[in-house]
Amino acid sequence: MTIDLGINNLNDPIAPEAPVLIPPALVDEEPAPEASPVIQAVGSLPWRFSCFITGTDTEIGKTMISAAILHQLVESGVRACGMKPIAAGAEMVEGELRNEDADQLRAAGNVHLPASLTTPFMLRTPAAPHIAAAIDGVTIDPVPIIAAYAEIAAASDAVVVEGVGGFRVPLNDYFDTADLAAQLNLPVVLVVGMRLGCISHALLTVEAVIARNLVLAGWVANQIDPDMAYLDENIEALAARIPAPLLGRVPFMDTPDFKAAATHINLGALPGWPPVRT
Ligand SMILES: Nc1ncnc2c1ncn2[C@@H]1O[C@H](COP(=O)(O)OP(=O)(O)OP(=O)(O)O)[C@@H](O)[C@H]1O
Ligand SMILES: [Mg+2]
Repeated sequence: MTIDLGINNLNDPIAPEAPVLIPPALVDEEPAPEASPVIQAVGSLPWRFSCFITGTDTEIGKTMISAAILHQLVESGVRACGMKPIAAGAEMVEGELRNEDADQLRAAGNVHLPASLTTPFMLRTPAAPHIAAAIDGVTIDPVPIIAAYAEIAAASDAVVVEGVGGFRVPLNDYFDTADLAAQLNLPVVLVVGMRLGCISHALLTVEAVIARNLVLAGWVANQIDPDMAYLDENIEALAARIPAPLLGRVPFMDTPDFKAAATHINLGALPGWPPVRT
């Protein structure tokens, strides 16, 4: 049997005329093979959930909400791990570089992996990441982050990745946080720090997420200004314009606590939640 694959090799004038011989066994439609034991075993594998947490700005509650989501996952019996791939402002504690965000995510999750995986770029200087990296003499490279994410995902059922700053914060000369979310290809959860000015920040972020063909899985209204005027009206305005479910309204807490924040978050509003165990 001969089949013309329609491939013309312009460097080889003989190639267009040459028929391509394919053994009949590869051409005839075969019935689908029986599922192998490996495929059948999928039913007993854990389901997976991963998301990328971004925010309208720095210091608006990304870590708080990431930890709250991790806590909910853990409470539901899921093996959950937080990842803060780039942390600026690490301090040496007992011979180990530590960062507050990374510590909080670790406290909220129940899968504990080496910091070299959960925070491949632990920077000492408290500054914008590309500046902190330059001062520390390193270049933030997406490759070790993606490799570390794959290891974390393999060891957990759920991974919550906290971005750094806002969505377009540069990580190096050619790569920013949005690019990282796109390379990881994770659904994005947007934390809106409820304060004056947040509507435009939120909508610009939504545009940037959608422009990268990422799924905007949901958003959280996190009240960081205890005296925000017209809070309800602001949330309504956002809900009318953000094409994703509101996962929760977290009130201002005099004593901030991720477990308390978790009681205001409804992961059930995520599309396709809970994931079906097949
Ligand atoms: N709902 C809230 N009520 C009161 N305080 C809050 C609330 N959410 C966050 N905070 C506090 O606001 C500060 C910033 O929160 P958080 O560290 O989560 O922000 P972030 O966006 O992760 O910041 P960064 O950009 O530095 O990672 C923290 O001190 C946190 O405890
Ligand atoms: Mg943080």
